[in-house]
Amino acid sequence: LPEGSKQMVDAHELLRKFYHHLLVNTKEGQDALEYLLNRGFTRESIDRFQIGFALPSWDFAVTLLEKRGFLPEVMAKAGLVIQKENDETYFDRFRNRIMFPILDHQGNTIAFSGRAMGTDEPKYLNSPETQIFHKSKILYNFHLARGSIRKQQQAVLFEGFADVISANRAGVENGVASMGTSLTDDHISLLKRNVQAVTICYDSDKAGIEAAFRASNMLSKAGLAVRVAIMPDGMDPDDFIKVHGEEKFRNDIIGSSSTLMAFKLLYYRRGKNLQNEGDRLQYIEEVLKEISRLDKAVEKDLYLRQLANEFSLSLDALMQQLNERKQTSA
Ligand code: UTP
Ligand code: MN
Ligand code: MN
Ligand code: MN
Ligand code: MN
Repeated sequence: LPEGSKQMVDAHELLRKFYHHLLVNTKEGQDALEYLLNRGFTRESIDRFQIGFALPSWDFAVTLLEKRGFLPEVMAKAGLVIQKENDETYFDRFRNRIMFPILDHQGNTIAFSGRAMGTDEPKYLNSPETQIFHKSKILYNFHLARGSIRKQQQAVLFEGFADVISANRAGVENGVASMGTSLTDDHISLLKRNVQAVTICYDSDKAGIEAAFRASNMLSKAGLAVRVAIMPDGMDPDDFIKVHGEEKFRNDIIGSSSTLMAFKLLYYRRGKNLQNEGDRLQYIEEVLKEISRLDKAVEKDLYLRQLANEFSLSLDALMQQLNERKQTSA
């Protein structure tokens, strides 16, 4: 471990406990607690995920950490405090935010993400990259989910904190989040070391759907069995659970996830009018391209027949075009 790492983790652990205490036991944390309860978070999940509150103060963390003997230079390198320009003094990075501790896969707190309660930007303020926090290597909640992930040989991949936490409340305990829409090779090898199958459950907005498409290709290339759970238009998993309830989420979303090909068919249909000849031809071309990438002959045959049926095309014509594709792309 690089020098200072232990101090950095200890400081994160200390702050995690204080932020949590401020949220659940103090008058200063009341509005933040109400905000969370109004959103549908329960006291139980607030405890389980050790959610906290950072006071609207410029020096709460600075003062506490100094009093406990942590060196300000090290705390600045840990991302907890920031040094003023041309000055020897420091101020808190996280102010007036709901605090989500980010744990490493052993359960050490190594970073925070702070959510604004109003419309402050950014919505989530994250710890920077530090010697103890590499965002591209960490999946949020992997530490808690590991047991369930291994037992079910299956992980559910979400975008965000609230999605993982609401899904957990709904009984989906094998959920982790990429904390945004970019899944990295390190995330994929971590999943690959633990499971054979991954269900992607990203937000049903443009960014989420595009990200699900990219992630599904990356995961399946790595040899994982991929399914995609699709939410009604515009919703994210946390919204869905709030509106439609836990049982519907478990059964109609996670339990009824689509196969990779079914998701891709939906994906290529988006924004097209299949009554329109140009759109229809483009769709058929895109689907043929996907079919040509399948390596199982039976799957190829199945989807070719489906495509032929849907558009009243001859199987011969589709096969011929598929073979032409193969020659031109070889
Ligand atoms: P979303 O924009 O989908 O937010 O970003 P969300 O999770 O639904 O948040 P709520 O429900 O409004 O509270 C998905 C994830 O991307 C990361 C966070 O991890 C977030 O949970 N993100 C998003 C950031 O790091 N910074 C941001 O400003 C926004
Ligand atoms: Mn508690
Ligand atoms: Mn999103
Ligand atoms: Mn979202
Ligand atoms: Mn959300």
